[in-house]
Amino acid sequence: MSRLNVLLALLLSLTCVAVLGGESADLPSGPLQAKVKAACLGCHDSGIIVQQRLGKPAWTKEVDKMTKWGAVVDPGDRDAFIEYLSANFPGDKEPYVAPRTVGGKKRYGRSDSANSRVFRKW
Ligand code: HEC
Repeated sequence: MSRLNVLLALLLSLTCVAVLGGESADLPSGPLQAKVKAACLGCHDSGIIVQQRLGKPAWTKEVDKMTKWGAVVDPGDRDAFIEYLSANFPGDKEPYVAPRTVGGKKRYGRSDSANSRVFRKW
């Protein structure tokens, strides 16, 4: 391998670590963070969790639904999971602002006639 290839390989692996690390960075720290990461980030990243604004009954349903779907939550941790999630992502928290994937431009804006035509068909 040339020196450049070694450098590129190193850069690529560092990027992967950064991406993987970044995925769950937004789950608030606390004693439950590691357990929630382990149980909840196997099938989707933390984005789908941190964007929720739910009351405790809804978080209860959510945790039980995910457990039925295959999340491994120790029965002794179930209530603590629900506490952690409903304390950090309650219904009255300020709305989640989704990061834009396209620089500042709305993808399905009304002014974008080509896209809204496609949108209306659905
Ligand atoms: C076995 C796979 C799996 C595990 C583990 C898992 N989920 Fe999910 N989760 C899904 C799927 C599939 C969806 C719905 C599809 C999608 O939108 O990506 C989903 C969606 C969600 C949603 C969005 C609302 C909804 O119900 O669709 C939330 C919130 C969520 N999961 C929270 C959690 C939490 C909290 C945990 C850990 C207790 C967890 N998930 C673990 C598979 C899983």
